Amino acid sequence: MRPSQASAILPILLASCAFAALEKRQTNDAVGTIISPANGSSITPGTPFSFQYSDGWGGACHPAYTPISVGITAYRPTWPDLNGSIFKLPDSDYLYYFGDYVILNDEGIPPMSNPPPPSTFTLPELDPMYNGQEIYLSVAEQMFECVPAGHTVYSFPINSLQYNP
Ligand SMILES: *[C@@H]1O[C@H](CO)[C@@H](O)[C@H](O)[C@H]1NC(C)=O
Ligand SMILES: *[C@@H]1O[C@H](CO)[C@@H](O)[C@H](O)[C@H]1NC(C)=O
Repeated sequence: MRPSQASAILPILLASCAFAALEKRQTNDAVGTIISPANGSSITPGTPFSFQYSDGWGGACHPAYTPISVGITAYRPTWPDLNGSIFKLPDSDYLYYFGDYVILNDEGIPPMSNPPPPSTFTLPELDPMYNGQEIYLSVAEQMFECVPAGHTVYSFPINSLQYNP
């Protein structure tokens, strides 16, 4: 095997092993909550709206960091829509993707490569076909270091919003 082939295959093996290990230890749960924007509120493009998210820290899970992915879809997504290996919706499913963030659960810990979520987001203008329609803000959350030891809890809360340009 040529070195270029070996180096192409190795990451795939590593990724599938990591996924297999995770899979045994995952639970799907609704531990996280989108506090703002509230479910059913209206959203105006170009106007910053408050984003406040409460992760599932405490209880069974005590990680220092909580990765989240935040975006807007035209449909109400469900668990099977998520790509299980990265725990995100496919990029093409998002009307707008706000990004990947990491919540710091302890004071004074070093920041990660992804920043903490900002306190506001701004949705750009969408296709006029969405005027007055419901769109869906979802947060895909991964909560590590849960009990029983080594469990990861996945959360996927969704708030519906009315798009009002
Ligand atoms: C949000 O409101 C919709 C109805 O507008 C409802 O179906 C849904 O369950 C609500 N979601 C939450 C998280 O309360
Ligand atoms: C899931 O994400 C991985 C990594 O980005 C990608 O290689 C894979 O094709 C995705 N799977 C599906 C079903 O989209």
